[in-house]
Amino acid sequence: NFWEPKRPRLKSTLIPHTRKKARSRLLMSMRYNHLVTEKFEDRAREALAQPKNVGEMNDADSVGTVGSPDCGDMLRMWLKFTEKNGKKVIDRASFQAFGCQTAIAVASMATELLKGKTPEEARDLKPNDLSGDLGPLPPMKIHCGQLVEQALKSALDGKDAPQKKTTETLAGNLHPTPSQKIKIIPLEDGEGN
Ligand code: FES
Repeated sequence: NFWEPKRPRLKSTLIPHTRKKARSRLLMSMRYNHLVTEKFEDRAREALAQPKNVGEMNDADSVGTVGSPDCGDMLRMWLKFTEKNGKKVIDRASFQAFGCQTAIAVASMATELLKGKTPEEARDLKPNDLSGDLGPLPPMKIHCGQLVEQALKSALDGKDAPQKKTTETLAGNLHPTPSQKIKIIPLEDGEGN
């Protein structure tokens, strides 16, 4: 905006010593991010070799489906509840994905983590919690974790088809009928936890 004072240019305000420090800090953070991404990808590859809880759950109490308008990936999650010490908890969770490998690895990890959690506890889980042993999601992969988070929330809302047994696959739902709505979630940029 024209009435805003012009910001001084970073280059001109930094004395050479400070500039050197800033550059080395930037390099360090780039190296750190690279390392985090590499480690994450190694663990994700291991998880993908044997993904857990893949497939439809015929006796599910609740199911949620979300799709990302950005990358076109889709994820569906089923939940089965039970009662433990007078509390409603998640007994089992499963998923199907038309998504990138990160979304599949996180969903596999998440469906294991969810066992024994109350719906409230599950709702509080953020993408970096759902990724579990895979470690924190690299910034470029946050939205893949958000796809899992949103599928879980959609299943917890139980809006899609509670108690409904279906033999339809996620692939079949790429062109959903009105009774099989897919929630399109706007994903946040960056580290939108
Ligand atoms: Fe779409 Fe990962 S790229 S969910």
